[in-house]
Amino acid sequence: MVALDGPSGTGKSTVARKLADRLGAGYLDTGAMYRMVTLAALRAGTDPADADALAALAAGVELEIGSSPRQPEFRLGGADVAADIRGPEVTGAVSAVSAVPRVRELIVARQRRIIAEVVERVGGIVVEGRDIGTVVAPDAPLKVYLTASAEVRAARRNSQDTAAGRQSTVADARESVERRDRLDSSRAVSPLRAAEDAVPVDTSELSIDQVVVALCELASRRG
Ligand code: C5P
Repeated sequence: MVALDGPSGTGKSTVARKLADRLGAGYLDTGAMYRMVTLAALRAGTDPADADALAALAAGVELEIGSSPRQPEFRLGGADVAADIRGPEVTGAVSAVSAVPRVRELIVARQRRIIAEVVERVGGIVVEGRDIGTVVAPDAPLKVYLTASAEVRAARRNSQDTAAGRQSTVADARESVERRDRLDSSRAVSPLRAAEDAVPVDTSELSIDQVVVALCELASRRG
């Protein structure tokens, strides 16, 4: 198993999927799970400041997530929400939802069940998020913490948004990634941080493929 953590805009999702594909492993995008709960909350009109209501919603939400790195699948109540969970409303609210301790407990328990099931079925998994090496899977044999400069992360996020047809400028993207990092790093429960035994990889000057090659080497030694 590979635990891949780091802030947004470091290339984490693309790297995680390509790495899983190369290793013949499964893949889990844990951020997408918090995004699906957030989308469900927005649709239900739940107040993002109401922790009890969010916890009740997270307990009942019909969330399905695929584990194939080539064909990621995200379903809420049976409907495909792959595009909706990346929209600005969800991105703006997800840090508040993911900071609720009871929501995290429920989602982390689910993540651990998925990890166990996928490892049993295909033999390995690459899991990406913010607290994988510290909380979800502290025993992972390989933990990697991806970083990149704020400029690079904003530029990457902006091109992803533009490619997906969402209106964005580099300045907007920078404000959004920095705001989310601030919220994710300062929350009381499971804040974004590198595990002590994580290998730090700065992706600012590296292409996605260079990062994947470097991680494949690490995985072949430790994964
Ligand atoms: O990775 P992604 O940008 O999709 O994550 C969306 C949000 O979900 C993060 O900003 C963070 O608030 C939350 N998250 C988390 N723990 C994780 C993964 C994501 O709190 N393991």
